[in-house]
Amino acid sequence: MTAVTRPVPTYPMARECPFDPPAELARIREDECPAGGPGVARVRIWDGSTPWLVTRYDDVRTALADERLSADADREGYPATSRSRHVRSQGRRRSFIMMDGPEHARHRRMLIGEFTVRRIERLRPLIEQTVTELLDAMEAGENPTDLVQAFALPLPSLVICHLLGVPYADHAFFEAQSRIMVDLTSSAEASAAASDALQDYLAGLVRARLAEPRDDVLGGMAARVAAGDLTVDEASASALLLLVAGHETTANMIALGTLTLLHHPDQLAAVRDGDATQVRGAVEELRGVAVTHIGRRRVATEDLEIGGVTIRAGEGVVLAAEAANRDPRQWPHPDEVDVSRGTNRHVAFGFGVHQCLGQPLARLELQIAYPALLRRFPGLRVTVPDSEIAFRDDMAVYGVHALPVAF
Ligand code: HEM
Repeated sequence: MTAVTRPVPTYPMARECPFDPPAELARIREDECPAGGPGVARVRIWDGSTPWLVTRYDDVRTALADERLSADADREGYPATSRSRHVRSQGRRRSFIMMDGPEHARHRRMLIGEFTVRRIERLRPLIEQTVTELLDAMEAGENPTDLVQAFALPLPSLVICHLLGVPYADHAFFEAQSRIMVDLTSSAEASAAASDALQDYLAGLVRARLAEPRDDVLGGMAARVAAGDLTVDEASASALLLLVAGHETTANMIALGTLTLLHHPDQLAAVRDGDATQVRGAVEELRGVAVTHIGRRRVATEDLEIGGVTIRAGEGVVLAAEAANRDPRQWPHPDEVDVSRGTNRHVAFGFGVHQCLGQPLARLELQIAYPALLRRFPGLRVTVPDSEIAFRDDMAVYGVHALPVAF
């Protein structure tokens, strides 16, 4: 039999429905014999290179835990998400999300104590109070309003500022720089300038802590700088990662998650009226709401096998967690929203050594935010059809640019 040669699909692919990953991803995941192996195929990215795309849950999870796959964007063959990200990472101060082995472990270890479930639980009163104040302001303000600006963005922004010790008064500045950095259409120059501006800003805050110590994450970093364990550049690179990851992702989960629930009134009612266990389950069910929607990026440092395919050293690999989280081998009816599923084995927070450091914080914010919003405004509704909502296909973090709601 003659083998059928299929054209190499471009990645990321266009979505048919804003709430689901592209159908092409599911096709690759379910295909037993694409040009690669079951669920593994070559894709073409922005620079014309053709890394491997891995789509099945077991393969994605196994690969995320495989230390022969490097997260180092400076390595030859690393499949960067865009030209601007490629230029930005080359030779610049990198944060530990792009480091491997002992170097990665050293930086992560310095922060792990700040993000344990117990430590984050101490923030509960602050998060609850912040949610109440934002909802009070929303209730007293204009109706309709934009849920992103009124609630979804300021909540994680305020909380990460508190934790790090970044003045919230500067939020317009750091949110704007962060937006440029995650915008896939930013020019390389604009993206690099935004990253430098943020890093200089955070380095200034670390230096200020050296002169005047404080009990916050930046204060802890400054103490390590004073002890000679860390340079100011390394500290500000980690701080940048925490600041950007700490507000972009959660903000979009709040907005897109709310929109998803509004489309499923029975599920929404379960979150609004549910007890703490049901709410926790609902947050995990947001496995299907992939805000980190363009794959985890890695490059092979040795030959290895994924899903029956030999990946050669130096080849790029894109681990499509957004497809893995909808794998029918793992979840029955994976495309349905069912907040009573009761499983947290999804890979929305990644897996392995780079597994999301901030997940206890993200979970707590979401567990407090959704029911509080839905209980305060039982009549919450979106004022425009989906076709008029600006979805963030153009950003490294998916979600909505704005969400006009009435309450
Ligand atoms: C719903 C919200 C969030 C989602 C969906 C999310 C998702 C992820 C994912 C998928 C990774 C793995 C990246 C990889 O393997 O390449 C990751 C890593 C990371 N996240 Fe999150 N994240 C969220 C919230 C947060 C928050 C609130 C913080 C910080 C305060 C944070 C800090 C980090 C850090 C520092 C890493 C890098 C960990 C490492 O490389 O060791 N994230 N996140």
